[in-house]
Amino acid sequence: MIPQQCPAATSWDVSHSVSQRKSLLGRSGKRFDDLAGQSTVNNLLVLRSICHERKPEHTLEIGLLFGASTAVIAACYRDHGIEGRGQHIAVDPYQRTVWDDAGRITLEDAGLREYVTVLDEFSNAALPRLVTEGWQCDLAYVDGSHLFEDVFVDFYYVNQLLRENGIVLFDDSTDPHVRKVLRFIQHNRGDSYRQLDLTGHRPPAAQTLKYRIGQRFGRVQLTGFQKIGKSRRPWNAPLVRF
Ligand SMILES: C[S@@+](CC[C@H](N)C(=O)[O-])C[C@H]1O[C@@H](n2cnc3c(N)ncnc32)[C@H](O)[C@@H]1O
Repeated sequence: MIPQQCPAATSWDVSHSVSQRKSLLGRSGKRFDDLAGQSTVNNLLVLRSICHERKPEHTLEIGLLFGASTAVIAACYRDHGIEGRGQHIAVDPYQRTVWDDAGRITLEDAGLREYVTVLDEFSNAALPRLVTEGWQCDLAYVDGSHLFEDVFVDFYYVNQLLRENGIVLFDDSTDPHVRKVLRFIQHNRGDSYRQLDLTGHRPPAAQTLKYRIGQRFGRVQLTGFQKIGKSRRPWNAPLVRF
């Protein structure tokens, strides 16, 4: 549980407090002792740093789980003195069921609930609807199902939802399913996506040579791209092997 002083907690405090939790209770009292599914503290600090640098107006996250990354993104809005109006959309079909609302509780405890619109849906249903509604975002964090086809579909719609110059981040980049999608973007979407060097967004102690080499060879947990323009590929553009 995030300490009570958290309505005033900064995104820095939130990043560390959610990372230090050892267990959680859901709405009905269901207990979670394994919190390994949530983003690492380094990933949370990268997210925080990007939010501070870019000052997004709307953000999207696929995979709410226990609300760790959601709370950090929401806390960044609060850091900037921005009022909560549901500007961060978090999608997760299992929030009320499997996760017993533990993610919503994290946000409530931190006083961040009003910043987040939770969609209890599969991303393959929620994202096309957001496209139809004309909703757009400046930052998207893809951290839902890690199956290749789901990550690919998430990217397909995120591409339509992301404003120009917006950022898309993928967690668990070394997972072979996620890696395959990243390779598709690197090899086939270079006209509209530029991979980001995230080193400078990591805490100083984590900006190691090992990290830089890992990033070069796609062996890091978090990978980011900036949308640099609309795709100009014709419908029959050749597929570059990836
Ligand atoms: C790795 S966890 C997310 C961790 C979270 N972003 C954090 O850092 O604390 C993955 C989440 O994705 C959700 N999920 C699984 N399949 C999904 C889908 N098709 N659409 C949206 N969310 C999905 C799961 O219920 C789970 O909560």
